[in-house]
Amino acid sequence: MARGFFITFEGGEGAGKSTQIARLAQKLRDKRYPTVVTREPGGSPGAEAVRHVILSGAAEPFGQEMEALLFAAARSDHIEQLIRPALRRGKVVLCDRFVDSWRVYQGATGTIDPALLEEIERVSVNGVMPDLTLIFDIDPEEGLKRASARRGDDQAADRFEKETLAIHKRRRQAFLDIARKEPKRCVVIDASADTETVENAVTEAVFAALDSRSPAEQEATQGA
Ligand code: TYD
Repeated sequence: MARGFFITFEGGEGAGKSTQIARLAQKLRDKRYPTVVTREPGGSPGAEAVRHVILSGAAEPFGQEMEALLFAAARSDHIEQLIRPALRRGKVVLCDRFVDSWRVYQGATGTIDPALLEEIERVSVNGVMPDLTLIFDIDPEEGLKRASARRGDDQAADRFEKETLAIHKRRRQAFLDIARKEPKRCVVIDASADTETVENAVTEAVFAALDSRSPAEQEATQGA
């Protein structure tokens, strides 16, 4: 069966993921890889509706567990409606945040029972895990500054961005811990460098991973 290639982009706030995803998508298309760009929470019509509920803070009073269930429901819809079908058709799927954000935001810096989180994760991803994860690492102080500059003064920080610097620091460490535990899947990108340097690091990591696949796997993502 044809199998595409699933790449996720993870890290703290204001790490520059969106810019790099757009540049990488262009590069992949230039090289004739059929490429799909998506994001979480969201990515399918149902999940985008849930995204609004979560990021506006409307679900915060439900408590962390119920809010986490919304993330999981959105992820499940996104996977079944968009990601799994795209991978079956041999596409390269680029996703801005995925399950590592869940492990970090709901897990490492949340109050939810880890066993419960693991079980919900298993049900929501239903066997779809990234082939490659780029973890954009940046000092949270710098990242939050960038995120607020991008947003402008007239818009408030979202549900998670507004949390304390101490929490964002723990998140940075939690992403790095994931990268250390899963070195085959994860590559840490120094997101504090200038845009071109980050772009080069992303390009190198992605094409190294694409080129290290078997010839049959490589064929599956060419011109599908
Ligand atoms: P978004 O504006 O897309 O973040 P960014 O531009 O920083 O990537 O907002 C998504 C927010 O949701 C972000 O703060 C991380 C959080 N999040 C979770 O808490 N759990 C998850 O599973 C996902 C996917 C995101």
